[in-house]
Amino acid sequence: VNRYALLLVLAACGDNLPPPTVRECSHLAPPPTGMGLDAAREAHRRGALRQRLRYREAIEPGYVLRETALVADQARIDRDQVCGQELYEVGRILFAHDFIPDEPFRRVQVGRRGGPETTSCTSCHWRGGAGGAGGYTDNALLRGDGDRVTSADARNPPSLIGSGVAQALGEEMTAELAALRADAIARARRTEAAIEVELVAKGIAFGTLHVDARGNVDTRDVRGIDPDLVVRPFGWKGTAATIHEMVTEATALHFGVETEDAALHAAASADPLELADSVAAELTTGQLTALSVYVASLELPIMTPHEAPVDRADPAGPVQPYLVDEWVRGREVFDTLGCASCHVPSLPLTRATAAITSPVTGGTFAVDLATQAEAPRITRDPASGAYQAFVFSDFKRHDLGAENASQHMHGGIAPRLYLTRRLWGVGDSAPYFHDGEAATVDHAIRRHGGEAAAVRQAWTELSTEDRNALRVFLTSLRRAPRLGVP
Ligand code: HEC
Ligand code: HEC
Repeated sequence: VNRYALLLVLAACGDNLPPPTVRECSHLAPPPTGMGLDAAREAHRRGALRQRLRYREAIEPGYVLRETALVADQARIDRDQVCGQELYEVGRILFAHDFIPDEPFRRVQVGRRGGPETTSCTSCHWRGGAGGAGGYTDNALLRGDGDRVTSADARNPPSLIGSGVAQALGEEMTAELAALRADAIARARRTEAAIEVELVAKGIAFGTLHVDARGNVDTRDVRGIDPDLVVRPFGWKGTAATIHEMVTEATALHFGVETEDAALHAAASADPLELADSVAAELTTGQLTALSVYVASLELPIMTPHEAPVDRADPAGPVQPYLVDEWVRGREVFDTLGCASCHVPSLPLTRATAAITSPVTGGTFAVDLATQAEAPRITRDPASGAYQAFVFSDFKRHDLGAENASQHMHGGIAPRLYLTRRLWGVGDSAPYFHDGEAATVDHAIRRHGGEAAAVRQAWTELSTEDRNALRVFLTSLRRAPRLGVP
């Protein structure tokens, strides 16, 4: 039964590869996505596999978790014996898997203990396809008293597409800032004189670092990140640096699943999850690696026509001519109004890899975002030699005013601070804002207070035409169309 079972999961990986020799799997083409006959076949295969797995679960409850644990065995992953596509496939299955909680659902979470409030990742991250954002009714009610909705901070599920690139950008920025700090400390010690350095990574300014003559660091003028100078691209308030941390937190908070990884992340965190006493791991570290590889491999959002200068006679992408003028105008308004000062249109990425590290073994699996991820993937810009990521974010936290203050502290971050949300894919991720209470982009703009209040004011003074054009531009930031079997 077991060999048959394993093959069933692996069938996904290609042409009935015999387990466990799977190294050659890395030579398989990345998962076909988008449109066309291959995509239709793939959508059909996924639909059929889902139903087969449901039947297996019906016959042998617990089947999917047992079998995926065998395939995504961290010891084998660390020995380089499991290929990316297998991990992607296992992660994809787990992302849609129904985790049946052994306690009753609780709509409002209890502190850092969580719900459980639902059964699958796809139940919250679904808009525009798997890994998308969630609706208002999918909000997680974080850090509450387990009862009253008003006791909790409502958080809307953000879209996860492009997460691999976001993590990679964050890591490169963190490395740049760490190098600036190390250099400043060394220089201060050498010259025995206090110095100040402007912290700039990928062109984004994070304030000033003061270093005294003995090399002691003072972070009082650091802006938009924590004193450890780590860029944290995940969570509405920028609470996590890696996909792995968020995935581990998600399984614990939403499904009540226990993992060794959660305990280890908690031990290293200033804001730990409250874990149950029981030590029974319900997901293995390898399964969390697979889930993280899947999230890291999600497609990149698109933007059509592509970034300026737009050739109006032949705009990249299938765009109706009358829309091109609107788009170009909206793109300009976005800059001149000041939106782009926080929602920085593009950041250059040097190495297109997302590293997924198991805190249990310390082993790292690297996802090549330019070749192994779902299409559309990130591509190298021939002019600069870097990969241009159209994130529309500065990866910094900003003060959005008292009207947006959270009730609880998250990751030690002040109540009014929120991370500039990446606007890529924003056309497909309504509703908006951390609490999902902005039904449209216009509502979202009206919610911008604090540091963004002046820009909001400028927006209210726009002509109707400019406002329409801005809306056209934001609507063009979307997910590529794809085929799926519901
Ligand atoms: C109950 C709804 C819900 C479920 C179920 C859920 N999530 Fe989320 N997810 C959220 C919310 C809300 C956030 C934002 C959390 C925050 O701001 O701290 C989030 C954030 C994330 C992020 C970070 C995204 C970003 O850019 O900030 C990742 C990655 C993620 N979830 C993965 C998962 C995975 C994997 C699963 C399944 C194991 C899952 N989520 C299940 C609601 C959900
Ligand atoms: C001072 C920095 C800043 C400026 C300027 C700014 N934003 Fe934002 N924006 C943010 C932050 C921070 C968030 C996340 C808010 C939250 O946590 O709810 C955000 C969120 C958004 C969202 C919601 C995204 C989502 O997925 O829910 C939209 C849409 C948006 N901004 C559009 C704009 C537009 C259009 C402009 C110009 C009129 C603009 N922003 C100007 C910082 C800024």
